[in-house]
Amino acid sequence: MQFNTKPGGALQGVLRVPGDKSISHRAIMLGALANGTTQVEGFLEGEDSLATLQAFRAMGVTIDDPQAGKLSVRGVGLHGLQAPATPLDVGNSGTSMRLMAGLLAAQTFDSELTGDSSLARRPMARVTEPLQQMGATIDTLAGGLPPLLIKGGATLRAIDYVLPVASAQIKSCLLLAGLYAEGTTRVTEPAPTRDHSERMLQAFCYPVGRSGATISVTGGAALKATALKVPADISSAAFFIVAASIAPGSDITLTDVGINPTRTGILHILELMGANIEIFNKREFGAEPVADLRVRHAPLRGIEIPLQYVPLAIDEFPSIFIAAAAATGRTLLTGAEELRVKESDRIAAMATGLQTLGVDASPRPDGIEIQGGKLGAGKIDSLGDHRIAMAFAVAGLVAQGRVEIADCANVTTSFPGFVELAQRAGMQINAVRT
Ligand code: S3P
Repeated sequence: MQFNTKPGGALQGVLRVPGDKSISHRAIMLGALANGTTQVEGFLEGEDSLATLQAFRAMGVTIDDPQAGKLSVRGVGLHGLQAPATPLDVGNSGTSMRLMAGLLAAQTFDSELTGDSSLARRPMARVTEPLQQMGATIDTLAGGLPPLLIKGGATLRAIDYVLPVASAQIKSCLLLAGLYAEGTTRVTEPAPTRDHSERMLQAFCYPVGRSGATISVTGGAALKATALKVPADISSAAFFIVAASIAPGSDITLTDVGINPTRTGILHILELMGANIEIFNKREFGAEPVADLRVRHAPLRGIEIPLQYVPLAIDEFPSIFIAAAAATGRTLLTGAEELRVKESDRIAAMATGLQTLGVDASPRPDGIEIQGGKLGAGKIDSLGDHRIAMAFAVAGLVAQGRVEIADCANVTTSFPGFVELAQRAGMQINAVRT
């Protein structure tokens, strides 16, 4: 799949991007482990969250096919999962692999987690090592790479664990393992990361402790089924927020966007750059705050991105870099080495793509320096990374000519219908099969 864009569009209208990916994964996982039937609305029907859904079906959980984002999960209880007949293939989804590793480590049966060629390169020792400290038996390939071979029948012990990186996936993995462990599992974060697991566990009536930067769960309680409404994904909204900010004449409203404070780094960063973002109609979808966002074109200026926003905007940097390229002046990002181990090496992928468009972009080990200015035309390789593909589609709005982006099929992992929604909003983009 290739995207071709033409410059000059302006974005208009009221848009709703699909459901939050992080929350959709967790809705399936906790729904499956609960007692009773959980009703979910606004579920992301993207390949990543569908991979989680399929994996739980493969372990004997009855889950309806989602219908316009609605589905029900017939929970089997914490001890009701069945051995899957084949390895669990979670495709491109790091969240599925890391979170599921935590709960599979506590099952009575053996299991194997595999994924696609991108996931096969992503570090898993960050979850297998603390799980091993809890008593799990997990084999990986050399260097801690997938697949994960998880031995059943382990008795897990609670640990106190200080995360070596600010990662919600590691935190969530250990909290899920902690549901099965003897004692109280405590995870301390070096900086706040998305707290959807904590909020959702509580929505399922599972007690979660919080003291400063330490989150804790005690094994042995039960999850009670509930009804969940998934907010629109701020990480998907990000592409439209940046697009409307950089394209003259734009004025859009994005509805039902999740504004959990552990996810809103992009709003703070763009506001520092001079963006015009109005947050209104604030309300709650269960445990998660949402709002509507009105975004109008505004001239952006380069900034030094404050370190505290890095984990709170970790998935939004591809689009933030496009905002930086379209801004006046220099933008500097540091402290973001985690970007190198996402679906692609996002620092390298973005630096190369921006350079192709003639932008002065200098990668650093832990970030990038971007001199804003004109964006030229060119051919970009998304490296099969959904967010790199969508970021350059946004760049196409203000480029001097056509931007062609190769290897875009994975956009459906997080944002099914991206091209159609972008067209409806006023972007000149089409997708062609290659
Ligand atoms: C996620 C956590 C983040 C994020 C990913 C989703 C989650 O990963 O990049 O897209 O749902 O917990 P890390 O925990 O590796 O930072």
